[in-house]
Amino acid sequence: MSLLEIENLSVRFRIKGGWGRSAWLHAVDDVSLSLPRGKTLALVGESGSGKTTAALAAARLVPASEGAVRLDGTDLLTLEGETLRRARARVQVIFQDPYSSLNPRLRAGAIVREPMDALNTPPKAERADRVAELFAQVGLRPEQQALFPHQFSGGQRQRIGIARALATRPELIVCDEAVSALDVAVQAQILNLLRRLQAELGLTFLFISHDLGVVQHMSDRVAVMYMGRIVEEADRGPLFSAPLHPYTQALLAAVPSIDRRRRGRSAVKATGETPDPLNPPPGCMFASRCPRAEALCRETRPALEEKSPGHRAACHFPGPSGD
Ligand SMILES: Nc1ncnc2c1ncn2[C@@H]1O[C@H](COP(=O)(O)OP(=O)(O)OP(=O)(O)O)[C@@H](O)[C@H]1O
Ligand SMILES: [Mg+2]
Repeated sequence: MSLLEIENLSVRFRIKGGWGRSAWLHAVDDVSLSLPRGKTLALVGESGSGKTTAALAAARLVPASEGAVRLDGTDLLTLEGETLRRARARVQVIFQDPYSSLNPRLRAGAIVREPMDALNTPPKAERADRVAELFAQVGLRPEQQALFPHQFSGGQRQRIGIARALATRPELIVCDEAVSALDVAVQAQILNLLRRLQAELGLTFLFISHDLGVVQHMSDRVAVMYMGRIVEEADRGPLFSAPLHPYTQALLAAVPSIDRRRRGRSAVKATGETPDPLNPPPGCMFASRCPRAEALCRETRPALEEKSPGHRAACHFPGPSGD
């Protein structure tokens, strides 16, 4: 069974306009995903597509408007009180910016300890040993517990962020652009650390990144978001070598480092305007930018359907690029 099952998750934000008007932004719209234990599902898509909001709603850090988020069969969105607190310990987030996500006034040891105090687990007497263990696990020295965040490099700060995320022995970790703020060499070290920890601790990752090179390195499965919806989802191999949705094809075509030979000859270019998210068109959200769009695409929204086993796409005319 999957560790995480997200079912028909939607998040709406009320956006206030001028003259007292307001509108609803469907930041996440009917997203369903499942994530097996010990695996990594990457969420990709351009800025504003809803990746962070979807992940934070799954972790109950942003209120969902609709849907269910089951962790091991328990719907997190309906929990309250003590059961919610215990469930929260099982899902942790590593944020992009280790500069702003760590409290500058706390010593590193206290930063790592904080979630254990907040969630009251493990017992108090065990917390100091647990902090020491976590420092060793992420490759920091014991005496570094006494230092403040500004005394660390960016990579080391992200190690503190990882230790903190691991403090309550979570099963699911959301990595939201966890290496995006780091130099390439440091990125590789942190990614390797994450993979090692995943193998050692059996962690499950929901891995958000706009860097497809990183995603290709880290993921087992990939979901592509566009304007709040999943437009394609597949295992890493088929997603990179035989993407079906023109939006995915355009994303991949924009990354020179990804092997293009296996993807067909011509690169898909997305031109045209992105629709107004507060006033979405009736058809496919990508139609205005899609080189393959026909009348049907502007009239009817395509459902996310399985086009081949395990490969879902929301497109009326899915297929290889360049046809
Ligand atoms: N608290 C909020 N109130 C109103 N709108 C929000 C809020 N949080 C996010 N949004 C909007 O929801 C949409 C999705 O944002 P989100 O941050 O989830 O995108 P993202 O895919 O993570 O983007 P990025 O790659 O830039 O991190 C955007 O249009 C954003 O402006
Ligand atoms: Mg984001």
